Amino acid sequence: MGKQGKEIVKADLKEVIGDLTKAYSDELLAHYQYWLAAKWIKGIDADTLKNVLEKQSMDELGHAEKLGERILQLGGELVMHPSQLLEKCGCGYKQPPSDPTDLKQVIIDVLDAEACAIRFYSKMAEKYRSTDLVTHEIFEDLLKDEVSDEEEWERFLAKL
Ligand SMILES: [Fe+2]
Ligand SMILES: [Fe+2]
Repeated sequence: MGKQGKEIVKADLKEVIGDLTKAYSDELLAHYQYWLAAKWIKGIDADTLKNVLEKQSMDELGHAEKLGERILQLGGELVMHPSQLLEKCGCGYKQPPSDPTDLKQVIIDVLDAEACAIRFYSKMAEKYRSTDLVTHEIFEDLLKDEVSDEEEWERFLAKL
């Protein structure tokens, strides 16, 4: 990042990079969790769910990309080994239920991940509101996406 771009960040750089890395790890884990669930699930209602999981899995990858770009911009390093994603994340990872027809459990696990992201991003958007506008805006954009993701999943759950 350029000189002026760095100068306008009033927050502690290490702390910002740490918070971004936490979110980055969660997004990559959600990306994999949703992608895997899409491949794993079976049953009459599974097809629609598969499509939504695949789409949202790619959305989460896009979120990881935005966060990763900001980490690099601030001079940070991206998580270099997948085993570290679990150490650095805040929301964790849920593997698909052993029964591939248990669509309800898949949705409950996704909703957990979305709710955790909403809580964290809302906190982060507040935290950097006046100390790092660019990071603030990234968290705010992601927050909007997760809020609409949650709504979509709640609708799904209600239909099952
Ligand atoms: Fe996300
Ligand atoms: Fe999401």
